[in-house]
Amino acid sequence: MVDAALEKRQVKRAYALYSPIYDFIFDRIFHPGRVAAVKLLDIQPDERILEVGIGTGLNLPLYPRHCRLTGIDLSDKMLEKAQAKIEELGLDNVTLKVMDASALDFADNEFDRAVATYVISAVPDPLGVLREMRRVVKPGGAIVILNHFRSQSRVVGALEDLVSPLCTRLGWKSNLALEPLLREVGLTPELITKVNVFNGWRLLRCGNRK
Ligand SMILES: C[S@@+](CC[C@H](N)C(=O)[O-])C[C@H]1O[C@@H](n2cnc3c(N)ncnc32)[C@H](O)[C@@H]1O
Repeated sequence: MVDAALEKRQVKRAYALYSPIYDFIFDRIFHPGRVAAVKLLDIQPDERILEVGIGTGLNLPLYPRHCRLTGIDLSDKMLEKAQAKIEELGLDNVTLKVMDASALDFADNEFDRAVATYVISAVPDPLGVLREMRRVVKPGGAIVILNHFRSQSRVVGALEDLVSPLCTRLGWKSNLALEPLLREVGLTPELITKVNVFNGWRLLRCGNRK
């Protein structure tokens, strides 16, 4: 409990530092995956969508205006950047909240779909976050995850294990394994593709069977 609290403080501190430079570093390089992730959500008119760990809101221009989007993040500094984009783009269908993704302040089945891009390996409790996404998405709704996971190649996987202590210090896990995580949370992907440079990121869509 105390450890988890400490990790959350570390996340907040790290992203307060990253927030001024985040878009400069992560906008273009990760853009193809973002476009594919929002497309894969297949949002229908008036649906309620949850974006977990919305960060500076780089996905905001990609959503259809007919949906009702809620974006949450642990970092108020990242959300300040997202709020500036909402104003710049004149969006009136988006609500932002400071919230911990592993303890969502939403009712069961409140959303039609949920998405997390480049988040699952950057949170202290990936399993808790996926469990919460399952809880707040309606039965039959879609959960879309875009993330780098531990490579299935033995050599690359071993390299990712090697650099993992450094990456953890920078704020993300380089060797988070996808399959055990999905098994534990009870999600089965309907579709998995690889995106971005070197096809190094996996994009998956799971139906929320409850
Ligand atoms: C690598 S950034 C990704 C931001 C955004 N999703 C994107 O695609 O650019 C990871 C984000 O997850 C947020 N985060 C980390 N742990 C979190 C938690 N427990 N609850 C909510 N947000 C969290 C961080 O504050 C940060 O904004």
